[in-house]
Amino acid sequence: MTPILETPRLLLRPLELADAEQTQILFPEWEIVRYLANHVPWPYPPDGARMFYRDVALPAVERGEAWHWTLRLKTDPLHLIGSISLTKGEDENRGFWLGRQWQGRGLMTEACEAVTDFWFDTLKFSVLRVPKAVANTASRRISEKQGMRIVSTGDRDYVCGLLPSETWEITAPEWRASNRER
Ligand SMILES: CC(C)(COP(=O)(O)OP(=O)(O)OC[C@H]1O[C@@H](n2cnc3c(N)ncnc32)[C@H](O)[C@@H]1OP(=O)(O)O)[C@@H](O)C(=O)NCCC(=O)NCCS
Repeated sequence: MTPILETPRLLLRPLELADAEQTQILFPEWEIVRYLANHVPWPYPPDGARMFYRDVALPAVERGEAWHWTLRLKTDPLHLIGSISLTKGEDENRGFWLGRQWQGRGLMTEACEAVTDFWFDTLKFSVLRVPKAVANTASRRISEKQGMRIVSTGDRDYVCGLLPSETWEITAPEWRASNRER
């Protein structure tokens, strides 16, 4: 089950199919999709969000293999501003995007704190790994700030093409230690 999570400024609500409508308005922006894995279709189809939620995200949640949340400002909880997810597996355990007008305010840093706590403290996984393009400065900075380490490098296919990429990792004991420091 995916619980509602809270941060100082955000509500993280479990994804519902009805969220597709607002996602479809915010998500298809080049600056948002360019460093996402190339299974995101581009140009983005008019029913892209609904198809992804209905056929991929929500079935994975049902199977207990993924946890998806929409992000909302506590001051405006009817409107979603982005999304964050956790997925079981070897090395792609967390993904996120934020609508352009809300970027650069530390909001995804907050959301990542909450879901990473959930990954280690509630789901009890022992390690979290995330691949990201070297060029994706904002996303890499979040990993750095969370005390993650680069464990492998290589080229990966992104929506914008083949790019140098890094896999970042943090273990449960490292996360708990870095939490104590913060
Ligand atoms: C990645 C993303 C979610 C970051 O969200 P955000 O709420 O703007 O991030 P934050 O405000 O928490 O900032 C994180 C850090 O990155 C830095 N940062 C943000 N945008 C930056 C940019 N364009 N260039 C350099 N640094 C940037 C911030 O200054 C902050 O570091 P600091 O605390 O040391 O100042 C957002 O840029 C996004 O949606 N990108 C497109 C989707 C994507 O790439 N997802 C990740 C795939 S791996």
